[in-house]
Amino acid sequence: MQRFVTIRTCYKPLPVSDTEQQLYEVVAAEAAARQAPVYVVGGHVRDKLLQRDSKDIDFTVVGNGLALAEAVGQKLQTPVTVFKNFGTARLQYHDFAVEFVGARRESYRPASRKPEVQAGTLLDDLARRDFTINALAVSLNADDYGMLLDAFDGLGDLERRLLRTPLEPELTFSDDPLRMLRAVRFAAQLDFAVVPEARMAMRQHAERLRIVSIERITDELNKMLMTDRPSIAFDLMFKTDLLREVLPELVLLYGVEHVEGKGHKDNFYHTLQVLDQVAKRSDDLWLRWAALLHDIAKYDTKRFEKGKGWTFHGHEVVGARKVETIFRRLHLPLQEPMKRVQKLVLLHLRPIALSKEEVTDSAIRRLLFEAGDDLEALMTLCESDITSKNEKKVKKYLENFRLVRSKLIEVEERDRIRNWQPPISGEVIMRTFAKPPGREIGIIKEAIREAILEGRIRNTYDDAYAFMLEKAAELGWHPVTKN
Ligand code: CTP
Repeated sequence: MQRFVTIRTCYKPLPVSDTEQQLYEVVAAEAAARQAPVYVVGGHVRDKLLQRDSKDIDFTVVGNGLALAEAVGQKLQTPVTVFKNFGTARLQYHDFAVEFVGARRESYRPASRKPEVQAGTLLDDLARRDFTINALAVSLNADDYGMLLDAFDGLGDLERRLLRTPLEPELTFSDDPLRMLRAVRFAAQLDFAVVPEARMAMRQHAERLRIVSIERITDELNKMLMTDRPSIAFDLMFKTDLLREVLPELVLLYGVEHVEGKGHKDNFYHTLQVLDQVAKRSDDLWLRWAALLHDIAKYDTKRFEKGKGWTFHGHEVVGARKVETIFRRLHLPLQEPMKRVQKLVLLHLRPIALSKEEVTDSAIRRLLFEAGDDLEALMTLCESDITSKNEKKVKKYLENFRLVRSKLIEVEERDRIRNWQPPISGEVIMRTFAKPPGREIGIIKEAIREAILEGRIRNTYDDAYAFMLEKAAELGWHPVTKN
């Protein structure tokens, strides 16, 4: 079908840095020497036209892309990495990541199910790309150097802010189903709309995401989360049923149930609002994950209690457990990042509780101790968790949080609880009573910690030591060494 498409061309002066210019000159000269037409294609052209910064430059060569890459690498005296299976070659030139590939006829992604990729024309290659705005090319060839080649009205779509596939959406998406998530990500990143026929195809073929590797999916999710308004992406995934494939737990939060005339809020849209509010305040990816998952167990814990209305008791505890299930499934990092997200989900109600009641020093100390280095992130999450439409209420809550914050600072300055370790360690306990590691050691250690956090004893070695002797005596233990 694409055989009948004519490539519209125009000159669009695009700003090019000196480094890029040097690179283009070398590439153009080497390509001319090999009589292999070469073009700058894809995201770099799109981003230039949108005046967005781009450090990735992709070249498509009508001919041997790998040979051209080697020649350019030699000229620029920079090593070239060849990915034979993919038919691509990469090099680094100053801060640009540069990739070369030969124009292809079949599916753009040889790594998918079609390993044999046939050489094709530039038009073949552009047609098998994901979106028209990514199918623009700039010629580096003598007869039309600098000409912008636009076979699928990508320029028009850039102006209209539309994501459209160059071919039938079904075909483009079946070449690589990840493109459905790329559509969502670009919609959020660029604030573009996906054309209705592509949206329809996404809904119809959402299940095809199952053949895509989880790492590629997660990479897109992270990119969505890092946009200025991640809600655009998650709402679009919800409406196209893609969310059911990647994060079904979130879909369950959608909707409002009424009993005895009482409804609860829609926890899906509440979550998206919290996420956007966090995104405005912080670009910490894991804090954004925490925002996305902070109410994830509200579906599981929802009850209607007579006289009380809707409750979600323990959703923070169940939610923290679900974080692990989700992180495992999505192959997200299980160490530090997951622990942080779990901690934020688990503690997300604490500052709110503190802002409502008379705050005691011990409650503040406890929060400082439990949140540790994540206290600032936790406060950001909580402030973002206020989504009331009533401005007066919002003002009041935020004012309460300011009080909690100043109290936190005051207590921290006095007691230094953040990153604090109780003055008596497990080793000291074992040595003092000549006992092996065991449950009792933990009990004594915890009792000391609690006593200090509650303010019953001072945070000193001597007080803690005396308290330890007391506790151990209750177990019938006596010290064998002196302090
Ligand atoms: N491409 C495609 N289908 C994919 C991935 C990429 O058609 N599944 C094409 C698009 O033309 C894209 C180009 O390959 O512009 C480069 O891919 P990539 O670097 O992944 O995307 P960019 O568009 O550059 O955007 P970003 O770097 O933000 O991912």
